[in-house]
Amino acid sequence: MNTLKITKATTDDVLKLQSIGRQTFSETFADVNSEENMKKYLDESFATEKLTSELNNLSSYFYLAVLDEKIIGYLKLNTADAQTEKEDLNALEIERIYVAKEFHGKKVAQALYAQAEQMAEEIKASYMWLGVWEKNFRAVSFYTKNGFVQFDTHIFRLGNDEQTDLMMKKVLI
Ligand SMILES: CC(C)(COP(=O)(O)OP(=O)(O)OC[C@H]1O[C@@H](n2cnc3c(N)ncnc32)[C@H](O)[C@@H]1OP(=O)(O)O)[C@@H](O)C(=O)NCCC(=O)NCCS
Repeated sequence: MNTLKITKATTDDVLKLQSIGRQTFSETFADVNSEENMKKYLDESFATEKLTSELNNLSSYFYLAVLDEKIIGYLKLNTADAQTEKEDLNALEIERIYVAKEFHGKKVAQALYAQAEQMAEEIKASYMWLGVWEKNFRAVSFYTKNGFVQFDTHIFRLGNDEQTDLMMKKVLI
């Protein structure tokens, strides 16, 4: 594989982020959700206005994984009050880590995760945490091998379907 670059995304990247966001979410969940629920989620969660406002949030950070000018994955981190659960303002949430299917198992996710670790170190986060669908076995394995442990469960709504997310954390200090 040629050199992989991890770059910080800005509002200029909104359409690229929308494209990789929709592609990777579909690749991950289209098989296990109704077409209607998927369409609603893809339309709403990756709407240009919504992504632009997330990119403009100074407490959120997006990174793109770029290989030969092509975007093959992305990472979204939340700090302070951008976290989707306000348990500890000094924690770091990995809200999204998504890699295009053909690049799974090729260390792209690990490179994005290294960026999360770097941010955690910079802000001296007390812990990193995330929510992951309980049946997303590959992702759960990925987090487990990186030292995350389950501490809770949460209900996640995809359209009118309710699913269980495992809440996982890695204590840092
Ligand atoms: C989750 C994700 C970022 C992990 O990246 P990756 O490159 O696939 O991760 P890795 O291959 O390094 O690690 C996954 C581990 O799960 C293992 N695995 C693969 N399929 C599995 C399965 N069905 N059940 C359990 N473990 C599985 C792999 O063997 C690997 O472990 P190993 O390194 O000990 O062999 C990537 O798969 C992805 O983008 N998935 C789609 C988006 C997603 O689900 N994001 C997370 C949302 S919370």
